[in-house]
Amino acid sequence: MTNPDQGRSERWQGGLSNDVQEVLFDAETIQRRVDELGAEIQEAYQGRDLLVVAILKGSFPFLADLVRAINLPMKVDFMAVSSYRGTKSTGVVKILKDLDSSLVGKDLLIVEDIVDTGLTLKYLLENLETRQPASTAVCTLLDKKAVRKEKVDVRFSGFDCPDAFVIGYGLDYDGIYRNLPYIGVLKPSVYQKD
Ligand code: IMP
Repeated sequence: MTNPDQGRSERWQGGLSNDVQEVLFDAETIQRRVDELGAEIQEAYQGRDLLVVAILKGSFPFLADLVRAINLPMKVDFMAVSSYRGTKSTGVVKILKDLDSSLVGKDLLIVEDIVDTGLTLKYLLENLETRQPASTAVCTLLDKKAVRKEKVDVRFSGFDCPDAFVIGYGLDYDGIYRNLPYIGVLKPSVYQKD
């Protein structure tokens, strides 16, 4: 009898790190930078009505570390969007899950894993600003400035990211690698064979 899982288990035999070409930001470096971002945000949002909106799925580890580095009352909500197919942005953004809460009068902080072309963020900003928040700002862990197609205002940014497809700490390729504790460049051979 053939085992449908056989090809899959062989592929992962060497662990997830086998598919990483280069580590860009290790776990310790990420944690240090996230703590700095948390302190900056804490300073900026004293006395404000902070609502953190995390864009799923990629932002979940960043969000979890970031909010614990901000010692302020806040609410957290989630939105899920999709715009990627493989390693390329399609530019067509679909809302897969909308917010549960109203934005009226809130100081909205959008938390993203990475801003690449900026198409997703531009769509999100236009959409969320119609809901009358008191203010809107963006916090991204990674900023791939070199490939930006849309001008978007990023107020808090963790690291500049080179023009390469990166995985780990929430970032995926085909749904995999989000649980890597560091951020690395995916070997092109992985997506070239798909
Ligand atoms: P943008 O619309 O091109 O700015 O892309 C934003 C979204 O694409 C991010 O929130 C990620 O989900 C995904 N993305 C962009 N670049 C990468 C990457 O290098 N690795 C994994 N996902 C990425």
